[in-house]
Order: sequence, then C-alpha cells, then structure tokens
Amino acid sequence: MHVKVDDERCQGHGLCRISAPDLFFAREEDGNAYVKSETVPPGQEDEAQLAADSCPELAIEVD
Ligand code: F3S
Repeated sequence: MHVKVDDERCQGHGLCRISAPDLFFAREEDGNAYVKSETVPPGQEDEAQLAADSCPELAIEVD
C-alpha cells in the first residue's frame, strides 16, 4: 500500500496524525502533514486508510 499527502489540499487539521501517528507528521513551518515514506509498513494499512477517511480536505490518497 502507498500513501501520499496532497500539499495543496492539506490545511493542517491534524486528524491524520491522530489516526496514524506512526505514519503522518506535521511540518514545523505550517503544520501540514507529511509522510516519511510513501510505502505503508506491513500492518499499518488500516491506520493509513483511517487517516485518509478522516481527512476533511480529502488530502490523503492511498492505493
Ligand atoms: Fe492535512 Fe488532512 Fe492531515 S488536512 S494535517 S492531511 S487531516
């Protein structure tokens, strides 16, 4: 599974980091989310999907 944050859409709401704190991090400068790796580690697929579903800006894409 792969995960990406669309920086144009992200508004820094932070719900992704609550859903998947091991996958999503906040940039210091603006609080927007980023992932350290677009490859979701085994066993964290549900968290990645939950984060995508929780984002009110639909900024997270999983495939
Ligand atoms: Fe951004 Fe959505 Fe997370 S707006 S900080 S990707 S919940």
